[in-house]
Amino acid sequence: IARPLPWVGHEDPWAILVSEVMLQQTQTARVIDPWRRFLEALPTPSACARAPLAQVLQLWSGLGYHRRAKALHECARAICERHDGRVPSSVAELRALPGVGEYTAHAVASFAFAVPVAVLDTNVGRVLARAIANRTLSRREARIMAGELLPRREVARFNQSMLDLGALFCRAVPRCEGCPV
Ligand code: ADE
Repeated sequence: IARPLPWVGHEDPWAILVSEVMLQQTQTARVIDPWRRFLEALPTPSACARAPLAQVLQLWSGLGYHRRAKALHECARAICERHDGRVPSSVAELRALPGVGEYTAHAVASFAFAVPVAVLDTNVGRVLARAIANRTLSRREARIMAGELLPRREVARFNQSMLDLGALFCRAVPRCEGCPV
């Protein structure tokens, strides 16, 4: 039932980082084309760091929230200065980058580097509350539960499945028919 999204299973950490920043506040379907265009133009952190901000903003058009584009530009610069142009793999190093919060750090670490950490956003929190806890969860409770549920293997597949469940079935207005849980 997983959605065939172009960044799923992608090997390039920069491509994954760009997708996660774009997905923070924009619907999946509206991210696919801008994501492709962005990576064609700026395929590496160093290409992005060298590009003028105006080009980055231009490539961001249609996604809204230009602040994220500016942050991603700064993030690319920091990756070049601190990590020799390669996206770092640890949650701590990722979190220290401009514009990268806990959600994005965990997403990039698990999807790009198979680091065993849980990806938790509002949607995943809702899946946990409904499918596991059967009650409302505080952010803290959800974080603990997500960590406990994490399988030892196939962490990326697990995290992607939780995101997909939240997007396809366990939506704000739930679609329980057909839900595999
Ligand atoms: N929303 C945030 N990250 C996502 C991902 N990796 N796949 C699908 N939807 C997402």
